Amino acid sequence: MRRPVIAGNWKMNKTASEAVAFVQELAPRLAPYTSVDSIVCPPFIAIESTAAALRGTSLKVGAQNVSAQEKGAYTSQVSGGMLAGLVDYVIIGHSECREYLGETDAVINAKIKAALAHGLTPIFACGENLAVYEAGETNAFVSAQVRAGLDGIDGEAVSRMIIAYEPIWAIGTGKAATAEIAENICGGAVRATVAELYGQAVADDVRVQYGGSVKPSNMREYMSCPNVDGALVGGASLIVDDFTALVAAAAEAKG
Ligand code: PGA
Repeated sequence: MRRPVIAGNWKMNKTASEAVAFVQELAPRLAPYTSVDSIVCPPFIAIESTAAALRGTSLKVGAQNVSAQEKGAYTSQVSGGMLAGLVDYVIIGHSECREYLGETDAVINAKIKAALAHGLTPIFACGENLAVYEAGETNAFVSAQVRAGLDGIDGEAVSRMIIAYEPIWAIGTGKAATAEIAENICGGAVRATVAELYGQAVADDVRVQYGGSVKPSNMREYMSCPNVDGALVGGASLIVDDFTALVAAAAEAKG
């Protein structure tokens, strides 16, 4: 039985003090939902204060990226070793990092390995753009991203990972994918590819999220999908009431 998991990707929002004030309000609201793993991913500069504010609560902290390198002359980058002990999770391969930072499948694969080497759980994001979707090539495209991202990683590590399917055309647009699309790709592309690569037991363990314009109003539909174990959420994760409603819906459907 997979535990539902909701991760808030704050992107470039909230100062360190805003982040602390937010989680101090959010953590007690989420406390009743013990059957759900809840995660906030603040900007790097807010990670330490957010983690300190959340110590002793069940709300976990993730980073939004990690370097593939250990240390050295990589201006602006943050390594897995620097994040270890502060966060439990790290988003890798978000479409905004693929697009704006030029991250390739090979870089993302190296970052997943770096995260695992430091005991961090990757939230590995994949998903197609509108052209791929309209060409009807989503399944093959996402499957190829999953294969490339997991290259050389053993099944035991994959079984503990989270993979987020996020169609780019649905991110921040308000045009959420239907629950049918989410189920078809989370199951038929992501989990099916993990099954092909590692066997059914690993595929049954890996948690798969849907992401892209997830809101309290559509969360129940996604959580009714057998292959959707939770959500990676941008906009709605910046609002305490919305975040709470998403976690409550996950608890109700799968807790
Ligand atoms: P959104 O973002 O929920 O604002 O669409 C999702 C994401 O980018 O992870």
